[in-house]
Amino acid sequence: MQARDLKDKYISFFKSKNHSEIPSYPIVPENDRSALFISAGMHPLVPYLLGQPHPQGKRLVSIQECLRTGDIEETGDTTHHTWFEMLGNWSLGDYFKDESIALSYEFLTKILNIDPSLLHITCFEGNKDAPKDEVSQKAWLSLGIKKDHIHFLPKKDNWWGPAGTTGPCGPDTEIFVDVFPSLAQEDFVAGNLRGRYIEIWNNVFMQYNLDEKGNYQNLSQKNVDTGMGVERTITVLSGLTDNYQSTIWKPIIQKIEDQTSLPYKTNESSMRIIADHLRSAVFVLADEIEPSPKEAGYVLRRLIRRAIVQAKKLGLTKNFTSSLAQTIIDNKDNYAGDYPELERNHDFILKSLDDEENRFRVTLDKGLKEISRLIDKKQLTGLNAFNIYQSHGFPLEMIVEEAQKANHSLDKNFQKDFKNAKEGHIKLSQTAAKGKFAGGLAGDDPKILAYHTTTHLLHAALREILGDHVSQSGSNITKERLRFDFTHPQKLTDDEIKKIEDQVNKHISSSLPITQETMTYEESQKKGIISFFKDRYPQKVTAYFIGDPKNPISAELCMGPHVENTKDLGKFSIQKEESSSSGKRRLYALLS
Ligand code: ALA
Repeated sequence: MQARDLKDKYISFFKSKNHSEIPSYPIVPENDRSALFISAGMHPLVPYLLGQPHPQGKRLVSIQECLRTGDIEETGDTTHHTWFEMLGNWSLGDYFKDESIALSYEFLTKILNIDPSLLHITCFEGNKDAPKDEVSQKAWLSLGIKKDHIHFLPKKDNWWGPAGTTGPCGPDTEIFVDVFPSLAQEDFVAGNLRGRYIEIWNNVFMQYNLDEKGNYQNLSQKNVDTGMGVERTITVLSGLTDNYQSTIWKPIIQKIEDQTSLPYKTNESSMRIIADHLRSAVFVLADEIEPSPKEAGYVLRRLIRRAIVQAKKLGLTKNFTSSLAQTIIDNKDNYAGDYPELERNHDFILKSLDDEENRFRVTLDKGLKEISRLIDKKQLTGLNAFNIYQSHGFPLEMIVEEAQKANHSLDKNFQKDFKNAKEGHIKLSQTAAKGKFAGGLAGDDPKILAYHTTTHLLHAALREILGDHVSQSGSNITKERLRFDFTHPQKLTDDEIKKIEDQVNKHISSSLPITQETMTYEESQKKGIISFFKDRYPQKVTAYFIGDPKNPISAELCMGPHVENTKDLGKFSIQKEESSSSGKRRLYALLS
């Protein structure tokens, strides 16, 4: 089966069950606060899970592109990917456990024709915060799943969320497929017992909100949030056990075989990393993010560089990334229609890859020199090796290989020191990522709300003073400040900055109301409302107006939330103006 067929079947099944389709949000959330990447289908839906009415109703379905930076190090095995597509269906306070489980069962057994006897199910065993999930067990039993195929597991396995430090979460029921049914029954182990039981779908019953004090409060509504991985499902349906041998990856792996003149069979791990990381890079670039030393651009840079290092290990020393990217973009069966930005930004994607590859080849040479310098000085310790790994993207085994080539024996703590340094670093970045996600979704903090509304005022003022060519290209909000990226060819003058500040402050002191209205996307475009959806748009959207809705100061499509009146915002001042990338400027601003 092709990914295209699975995606089409999923969407039409849930549409036939009265779900309304929403588009995939851009992988780097714009107009959102501060998360680096969308990492689950529910991510853009958090305000609605918390109770805000969604313009398209209570039943939604989507194909959402996701990127999980936590899986960068895991990539290389048969199932992990950094970028992937998540199929999701949601009930926002509509149906709950029984109907959600019945819908999943029907889709799996009637539409995908999976033999029900191959299904294994896990349910939450209960703890002090929430009871054992016997309701889900009963629902599965009533559909015919045998009792010994239903397994109760603790919170670490059967609880999902919150995605940050606070937010919606709850127990889940996970659906696994036995891919070696001819073997004798063995004890069920979640997380892939020798690759035997593959998890393909997760139904989360989001009825709690974890608050800042660590308490689980009942949400005002009981939601369902589900996620089905396209890759794993295709692999299982194709009777395979290695995702990278499915129709999704075949052309990409074949291209790498051609480029390196080596077979996949004996180079699996490296080829998987190259394929995975470059596909992720292509989709991040498609959203007009460039490799850089910071944030999303830094993740992008790491992905590209790690792929190049693996290719070098396979003996590929000439530029190959842009031609491999072409193969990924050409994979029209799987991606056409869903991601028009691949075509729109085709030249940018290929050129950025080539540029980054050229830059990295210089760094790579420097890294090799650094390794041989450390070997000469007998200072190639585990910690120094980690620093090279971290700054130049050299994998450990390549550093060890260089030492072996030079007949240099590594000290006995080398591996341990490297591992400790790496684990310390991962912990730090995971904490940072969690903080980011939390920031991204902490929409109900009054400071965040105030900065969000100010972002709309700033956008409007920039267009009034600099011209209509200005359009938002990124936004990042913390409780302390706002950051705003926009298209504009040159540095702002002091005079322009002053005028923009005055304009925003004038609107703030006019005590303008903020109102919202739901409408179709077409209507919003006829009314000239600014949108950030680019090529993909939902049928129904929410427009936020500042001032008189008939003649507003600002009209933008947005998910909210906002303050009710500009008078609550305080005094606006621009702190810094700089270039963000070519043709784009960046402003930092404060409310005081
Ligand atoms: N949000 C859930 C997940 O990502 C469905 O697994």
